[in-house]
Amino acid sequence: MEAGIVTVVGASGTLGSEIVRALLKKGARVRAMVRATSNRTKLESLGVTDFVVADLMDPTSLQRALTAEPRAQAVVASAIGSSAHTARTKGDNSRTDNEGYRNLVDAARNAGVPRIVLISILECDKASEVPLFHNKFVTEQYLAERRQPYLALRAGAFLDRARDMVAPKVRKGVFPEIVPGVAMGMIYTPDLARYAAQAALDVPASALNQSVDVCWDVPATGPLLAAAFTRALGRPVVAKPAFPPLLIAVMPLVARFVPTLRDMLAVLAWIRKGGYVSRDSQKQKDLFGEPPTIEEAVAQYCRDKGLVGPTAS
Ligand SMILES: NC(=O)c1ccc[n+]([C@@H]2O[C@H](COP(=O)([O-])OP(=O)(O)OC[C@H]3O[C@@H](n4cnc5c(N)ncnc54)[C@H](OP(=O)(O)O)[C@@H]3O)[C@@H](O)[C@H]2O)c1
Repeated sequence: MEAGIVTVVGASGTLGSEIVRALLKKGARVRAMVRATSNRTKLESLGVTDFVVADLMDPTSLQRALTAEPRAQAVVASAIGSSAHTARTKGDNSRTDNEGYRNLVDAARNAGVPRIVLISILECDKASEVPLFHNKFVTEQYLAERRQPYLALRAGAFLDRARDMVAPKVRKGVFPEIVPGVAMGMIYTPDLARYAAQAALDVPASALNQSVDVCWDVPATGPLLAAAFTRALGRPVVAKPAFPPLLIAVMPLVARFVPTLRDMLAVLAWIRKGGYVSRDSQKQKDLFGEPPTIEEAVAQYCRDKGLVGPTAS
């Protein structure tokens, strides 16, 4: 059967463009929801031609985007207002992740969208002191309250972030540990993107309306990751703190004036407590099969980033 249209919200983002790639690979037609200011270059290079311009803070634009014909069979929501990617755009803040997502759910309900796949965050229901996480839980609750069919993928921390600080360090034999000594749930974005595409196209309607943790098979630590990089590259990689102690000491002062840094510090403080791990991997296994291992993800990451093979430097 030919796959239908899937609208991707936040398509220009790091994960969003991976989701687009995964959907295209499965034969879906992708409708990329972007802002007027979004950079479309990567999406166009992937072959996307169907763009709708909308902003989560503008309900009218969302309504227009979600009622575009032919209608999409699913919406995958990967946008985030509180990230480094968008921090330079005036008006982006946690309002986007709260009010903006409410607007999206309302527009989807009004347009009769058959399902929303929400990119959520691991343990977001237990992190009320972290706005970045708590807003995901608020959106999950609002999806249920409005009876909008959904599947929330509660992802662990990305191995590859919008500003990838891993590859340049690993080239120098160092794995940068964001929160040294603490195990946390993690995932590599192409794996999460593959799940999001499956959730949009293949997961049966009977499995909707739940939240599913999405992580590797075991929580990751710096030493575990450094060992996996050592094996993948065939040369030693050691784990070292990503931030020097002096930087950590001044961060709270700077954060008073920089909201994104404040968000990040709240995240780090919360992760330090040790709660950022999956407590239920069964749903992930039931829906998507055996979770990727750290070894598999790191080996793939090394190939994707050109750290191994003929182009390695
Ligand atoms: N990083 C992690 O470790 C992690 C872990 C778990 C879950 N997640 C979740 O993964 C998702 C994707 O993260 P990412 O790192 O790929 O994000 P990203 O690269 O920062 O991309 C953010 C996207 O959101 C769009 N956006 C921002 N404000 C918007 C608005 N008002 N209206 C419409 N679109 C808007 C941006 O568009 P522009 O291009 O126009 O700026 C961009 O496409 C997020 O939902 C995040 O919470 C991340």
